[in-house]
This record gives sequence, structure tokens and C-alpha cells, in this order.
Amino acid sequence: MSVLLFGFGGVGRTYAELLYERTDLRIAAVFDSRGGAGSKDGFTRSEIRRLLEAPRGGVATSGVGRAVTPDEALDFCHVVVDVSPPNYETGEPSLTLYRKALSRGLAVVTANKAPLALAFSEIAGKRLYYKATVMAGTPLVDLLKGLPPQTVLRVRGILNGSTNYILTRVYKDGVPFEAALEEARRLGVLEPDPRLDLEGVDAAAKLVIIAGTAGMPLRLADVTRKPLAPLGPVTRYVALADLVERRASVEPVRLPPDDPLHVDYTMNAVEITTDANAIIVKGKGAGRLETAYALLNDTLRAVGRL
Ligand code: HSE
Repeated sequence: MSVLLFGFGGVGRTYAELLYERTDLRIAAVFDSRGGAGSKDGFTRSEIRRLLEAPRGGVATSGVGRAVTPDEALDFCHVVVDVSPPNYETGEPSLTLYRKALSRGLAVVTANKAPLALAFSEIAGKRLYYKATVMAGTPLVDLLKGLPPQTVLRVRGILNGSTNYILTRVYKDGVPFEAALEEARRLGVLEPDPRLDLEGVDAAAKLVIIAGTAGMPLRLADVTRKPLAPLGPVTRYVALADLVERRASVEPVRLPPDDPLHVDYTMNAVEITTDANAIIVKGKGAGRLETAYALLNDTLRAVGRL
């Protein structure tokens, strides 16, 4: 069983290391923004090491394997693992790759939120594994899938780690907003385009994925967004999907002290209200290792090893 790894940044590289350390599965093709390399029988450990030593964007010129296109790689890979950056305009190039892979019966494992945020109803199905898109290593998606036939009435959460980090630094530690933003950038938790975090697109995309999993298909454009703003103690950037009223929003809110959504720094928290229960989940919401582990778990499921 071999993997087509689509994206080779921080998460992709950590995933590749973990896959070879923890499983006998192999990567047979890897792509970055400049090209791809493939090897039908899967890369050996030493080839993976050479790819990991290649500079960013250097997969095609690494001398490992042969030059391949994603279409060619679909012929000899079994699972597509997408760790490419989100494109919230079109979902491409990932969306087209998923359509091709799924129509051939391949599984898709993804940490990329954009295709799901734009086309959840079309692509989400048995062969698409996406728990790495929301709350990274905290398996919220698995939990949501375990709820039916309970009905989810409402989901409220802190879904964006970088803005929660900034707000915690401002209100708990007294750090100026701009300095806290710079710290978040250095921590590597901001999206490559930080406006996606600061304008609520990242949280809205996660909300679409959560709502879709809970039975309310939404599109990204259906989520009302207000940009992050420090409104006073203790502001948090709250995502809310009301599945009864069928509305969803992301906005800064001043939380009362006893609100269960109080989490600090890059932690995430979600409160799920069903017709039978109220569940609170807290856990890490961003991070290379956590995301790579979630992808690994989904990969093992996709090939029937879990
Ligand atoms: N930029 C995202 C966040 C990364 O801050 O939560 C994890 O999805």
C-alpha cells in the first residue's frame, strides 16, 4: 500500500518521518509547489531521507525517483494524503485531485480544509478521511461520527489556535496585540496568509466541516464572519453553528468567567449540545506533530490497518 503525498512542507515532512518510523507503508510519490518525484515500489528509507534533506520546493530536483505528475502517480498509489496549503477561492489543485482519486476508488486523507469548506456535500463520503482538518490531533471528527442517531443541536467552539494564542497573550499576559501576532507567526501556528486566521476564514472552514459531519451541510460563504478584534477582557474568537436555526458565525465575543470555552494559548475547545447530551472537548488545535499523527491514524484506517 503506497501513499501519494501532496505537499511537502512542515506537516508533510513530519508525516513522512512518522510513516516510515511507525508503519511499513511507503510513499510512492511526493509533490511540492514546484513538481513531483515518484517511485512505483515506494521510496526506500534512504530516498525519503534524501527528500527530507532537500530544500523547500526541491522535490523535483532532488535526484530521488523520477519526475511524475499527480495523474501518473494515481496509477500506482493507493491513498492520497493532502497537506498542501488551502486555496479558499477554488479549492484547487486539491479538489480536482480528490475527484480523480475518489472516482478511481482511492482513499483521500487530508489536512487541507479548503476543498471540504467549499464542497463538503460533494466529496465527503466513506473514502475521504479528514480528522486532521479540525483540532489537529484531538479526534473531534471521530467523536461527531459516533453521535448518530443523537441529534446535534448546536456546536460552539474556539477553533483557531493562533488567534486564541494572541488573545491569551493580550488579556492574560498584557502583551500588545501586534507583538502577540508576531509571536504567533514565529510559533508557526498562523496560516501562510495570516488574514485567513485574523478574518475568521480558518475557523469558518472548520465550522463548515464540523457542521457537515454533524448533519448540516454548509458552504463557507454561509458562515457570517467578523474579524478578530480585542473587545475587552476576556475576548475569545468564537465559532457557532446553530443546527436548529440553521445559521453559523465566527466572531469575537467577551466570554463570561464560567464559560467552558475558556482555553489558553493554542488550545482549542468545543461544546457540542445534542438532544441527549452536552459534551466538551479540549485539546491542541494546531501543531505539526499533532496534525501528522491525525493524518497517520486516518491513513491506517484508509488501508484497513485500524
Ligand atoms: N492557523 C490554524 C490555527 C492552524 O491557528 O488554528 C491549524 O489549523
